[in-house]
Amino acid sequence: MTSEPSVTRVGINAIGRRHQERSRDGDTGILIEGASVRTANVTSERKRILTGIRPTGPLHLGHYAGALENWVKLQSEYDCYFLIADYQVSEYAHDLARVRNAVWEVTLDWLAAGLDPDSGSFVVESLVPEHAELTTWLAWVLPVGMLERNPTLKAEMEALEYPTGGKTKEKSVPVAFYIYPVMQVANILLPRANLVPVGADQLPHIELARETARRFNRAFKPIFPEPEALVGRVPRLVGTDGNAKMSKSRGNTIDLKDSAETVAKKVRTMYGGPPRRATEPGKVEENPIFAYLEAFDRDTARVRDLKEHYERKGVSNKELRNRLTSVLNELLEPMRQRRAKYEGNMPLVREALEHGTGRGRAIAKETMAMVRDALDLNYLR
Ligand code: TRP
Repeated sequence: MTSEPSVTRVGINAIGRRHQERSRDGDTGILIEGASVRTANVTSERKRILTGIRPTGPLHLGHYAGALENWVKLQSEYDCYFLIADYQVSEYAHDLARVRNAVWEVTLDWLAAGLDPDSGSFVVESLVPEHAELTTWLAWVLPVGMLERNPTLKAEMEALEYPTGGKTKEKSVPVAFYIYPVMQVANILLPRANLVPVGADQLPHIELARETARRFNRAFKPIFPEPEALVGRVPRLVGTDGNAKMSKSRGNTIDLKDSAETVAKKVRTMYGGPPRRATEPGKVEENPIFAYLEAFDRDTARVRDLKEHYERKGVSNKELRNRLTSVLNELLEPMRQRRAKYEGNMPLVREALEHGTGRGRAIAKETMAMVRDALDLNYLR
């Protein structure tokens, strides 16, 4: 692991042009980047980042490797808005206690992971109602077809409608769920963000934001930058059960706030590939323990050795699990300590949300004035 953000950059535009010298991946238009994101910070106006998370529970290693780790590295170079997207939890309407609680869990995890609320702004979405207002205007220029074709939305709606994978629809999807990508576009355009560091599953939404910005700018006035996506080092972390993705609903997570004992236990019982004797060679890609070592072990030479041994003459899962446990606990221990400090000082946590939301509101008002001017609908002026 290097000390620099390792990112995949998607969608280059005028604003991001200075990053263009990086290597281009075939004809996908996706730029792969191994170096740091350097912004010529010559003016006092820093480029802006907006990114967000839905408050549904504590954050896990997948969030960290896919996004959060990058945010921490980017926060000193960009003017960052970290959004707690509580308009986007319509599936939890029956359990708002969970959402209320998760707002604090997420804030604590952010602070624990090293986000600095003085440098970036922690914004609670619903406390900046301009998000809802802008969503309405943006819905004017977004064709329904773009939502119908959005692969992430499609997959998520299917998971909601067919929770047990059967043939008949078991649940209906709220309209708010269907339009959440539009609101996410509003989240991004409201602070006129240049960069959106997210997990790989969010890329269709960033594409939507770019298209919406172009359409609004063309139809009315050019006020929105076309935002670029930035994907973290580990676009998708496998779950402890070997499932394709670590996710709360699957119960296959290792949470950032898990104790050392819990981490040890989860690693001890995680899926370790097809049954195999310790002295029997195995396939690295079939054993998720290696996916975690690759993601989190800083000693890359050692990981390389282990892999080679594993494929040639076998390494016991016990040895791999022991290594992984110590690697993870080394990563998480400083976070646990920071978290404990903040948990003992909740007024400070509240202040982070209050100040950040205030800053988010200020820029939101500025943008809405620009939007109203662009639409020229100031009837009573
Ligand atoms: N939908 C995102 C997720 O599930 C969270 C999110 C909300 C977001 N608003 C955003 C991400 C704006 C990036 C930008 O992870």
